[in-house]
Amino acid sequence: MKNIDSRTHTRGESVYLDDVPLIQGTLFGASFGSPIANGHITSLDLSEAEKIPGVVRILTYKDITGQNQIGGIIPDEPLLAEHHVDFCGMPVAFVVAETYEAAHAAVKKIKVEIDPLPIITDPRDAHALGQLIVPPRTHRLGDTEAAWQSCEYIFEGLAETNGQEHLYIETQGAYAIPQENNALKIYSSTQSPRATQAATCKVLGVAMHQVEVDVIRLGGGFGGKEDQANAWAALCALAAHILKKPVKYALDRMEDMAMTGKRHPYSSDFKIGLDKHFKILAYEVQFYQNAGAAADLSPAVLERTLFHCTNTYFIPNVHAVAYSCKTNLPPNTAFRGFGGPQGMFVIEAAIVKAAENLGVDASVIQQINLNKTGDEFPYGQKAVSEAHACWDKAMDRFNIESVIKETHYFNSTNKLYKKGIAMMPICFGISFTNTMMNQGRALVHVYTDGSVSVSTGAVEMGQGVNTKMLQVAAYVFGIDADKVKLQSTSTSRVANTSPSAASATADLNGKAVFMACTEIANRLKQVAADEMHIPIASITLKDNHIHVSDQKHEMTWERLIMSAFFKRVSLSEHAHYATPEIHYDKLKEKGHPFAYHVYGTAITQVTIDCLRGTYQVDAVKVVHDFGVSMNPLIDRGQIEGGIVQGIGWMTLEELIYDKEGKLKSNALSTYKVPDIYSVPKVLEIDFLETTADNLAIFRSKAVGEPPLMYGIGAYFALRNAIKAFNPDAHIPLSAPMTPEKTLMALYSKPLKPDQEKNEETTSSLEVNQR
Ligand code: MTE
Ligand code: HPA
Ligand code: MOS
Repeated sequence: MKNIDSRTHTRGESVYLDDVPLIQGTLFGASFGSPIANGHITSLDLSEAEKIPGVVRILTYKDITGQNQIGGIIPDEPLLAEHHVDFCGMPVAFVVAETYEAAHAAVKKIKVEIDPLPIITDPRDAHALGQLIVPPRTHRLGDTEAAWQSCEYIFEGLAETNGQEHLYIETQGAYAIPQENNALKIYSSTQSPRATQAATCKVLGVAMHQVEVDVIRLGGGFGGKEDQANAWAALCALAAHILKKPVKYALDRMEDMAMTGKRHPYSSDFKIGLDKHFKILAYEVQFYQNAGAAADLSPAVLERTLFHCTNTYFIPNVHAVAYSCKTNLPPNTAFRGFGGPQGMFVIEAAIVKAAENLGVDASVIQQINLNKTGDEFPYGQKAVSEAHACWDKAMDRFNIESVIKETHYFNSTNKLYKKGIAMMPICFGISFTNTMMNQGRALVHVYTDGSVSVSTGAVEMGQGVNTKMLQVAAYVFGIDADKVKLQSTSTSRVANTSPSAASATADLNGKAVFMACTEIANRLKQVAADEMHIPIASITLKDNHIHVSDQKHEMTWERLIMSAFFKRVSLSEHAHYATPEIHYDKLKEKGHPFAYHVYGTAITQVTIDCLRGTYQVDAVKVVHDFGVSMNPLIDRGQIEGGIVQGIGWMTLEELIYDKEGKLKSNALSTYKVPDIYSVPKVLEIDFLETTADNLAIFRSKAVGEPPLMYGIGAYFALRNAIKAFNPDAHIPLSAPMTPEKTLMALYSKPLKPDQEKNEETTSSLEVNQR
């Protein structure tokens, strides 16, 4: 089945926040962000700004009617700065005006004086000063100290990954409309209607039943709107609440890039030990997460870094410590993979470092250490592993031996172009790591004409979840898809929802839709059974008819609905699903946090132009564990998109803050994202059907985030291509591998042993400043 949004998307008819028709009298907001990354506000002068014609009101923290607090996990983030700012772009004042232009003109006239304080942008500096968001977390398995004794080879190093701008096509925004008796309706581009509602109510000081948050769809979220949509909704709501007028604020691209948090940059130290057969015996790692100036979702992201720090490998002795470091950058936030990719990059870097020193291909070490069913992850859960199945199928299906041969042949016959290949196996845990969040709900109505309305807690952001929800309802009722409509995601229809995140949206809400529809279907079958005096067990719903003992009966779906209505049988149902079996003890750092894991293996091939340092990704070929895909078209799209987004993070996208904490890569002219030319020339996706898991909806495993991590393969493929040109090249394990860094690496000299330790800390920022 096609994505139900394809038609309106391609015709430009799909409705996003900016397409919601405006009510007469609507005012427009714009926020004034701090120009300084750390300091005390000594004066704020609004007088010139207030003189701009059309300006209605300029709000500061003093106008907040409830609490000046939007921190999700930790209450450490004011909505509007009071006496102190701690990142560039931190909202200080909110202008409300009759036009968009007046609001933005007024922002430019606001004057602020700030007594500057030292600015920290590097997580290791923050760590050295003891500036941590939360106490460190530690995952342990076995005993690394003892295990080093048995290791034949031990390697240490440093690995870094930079942040990533979400670049959802639709920027952040909200539109708040006052209702009677101080109530509010808010249209918001949020992944988490409940969080947006709760944050707004806290800021306004009103009860949650006073505020409805309604989400039609998002033009992408990628995690960037899991927590960070709340501020804009709260600002609009505050202004609407005070002025009793509708207020809209949709950020322009540069505001959005400057003011919102991104994927967390990480800097990490690793130590890896192997026996003489290349079995990894021990792994130690310290992660320094650049959290930015407030907690946001950083503690949860940090946790997932630990959960994925051994990727898909079984390592019997692990000691992993993670620090969430407070810096003067905008608070970093969820981004597809949620800290998992950062953890996985480091173990892959450690394996590559070992492989290069041992003179073997990294894939040899990777393959030997893939986990098997029954192997324990450092957090205590036992694997139900598809790692070997995916790996073996990928090597076989894509004829790896001939790919390697071709690559060698190409490299031996070409001087100025070199190819590199890399394998990237993945293993990603499905469930919110915070067990409590694993719940979903649905509200299903069947109308008297037989048409069906489905509301869930799921937010459609391009990932196709609404199509999947529709498929569930149509399947259970045995009716055509066009009889089912997915409604917007409203807190008044489905309450207390978890964010659409963690790739779990279709599982959680799909199970709830299944339960609600099954409940209604059972009532309907009873109606039919009573009417025909036959046992209910002989009745099924299929092809818009009832079937009796698998024979199509003349009674249509519509007739059955009317019969039920006349008999006063309820045609509505609300259902609640909570993932069973999962649990986690944060004190012991052990448990069973994930409903299941998703596996896969990608083979990436790249070609570098060794004169220019430019490159192309020739091919990414993947065997991916889909379970039983509910919608191969949508799932293929998720894999393709995830891979390209992952390649972007690993190769082109270079986020640069200067030492003053100012974003330099603040527009699409200075921040390069993958385009049609940079996507892999060949992208093959092979479906590994696995049927083991019934915690996924219809056994279709979650697909949203895992493919992003295939992109890590592009980084290591580039590294191999550089080594083919210059075997002694010194290449810091620091992503992204931009064309500039590739060029420098191609012509780099090997390090002298005494330089090794220092040189490795060269960050992408320093490289760039050089
Ligand atoms: N795909 C599109 N087109 N747009 C998005 O914003 N977000 C990703 C992924 N795929 C995203 C996307 C992220 S970060 C997550 S967690 C999942 O989709 C969320 O949706 P799901 O739970 O339905 O997979
Ligand atoms: N994944 C994504 N988003 C989240 C999670 C998670 O595990 N926990 C809280 N928000
Ligand atoms: Mo996705 S980072 O869990 O929104």
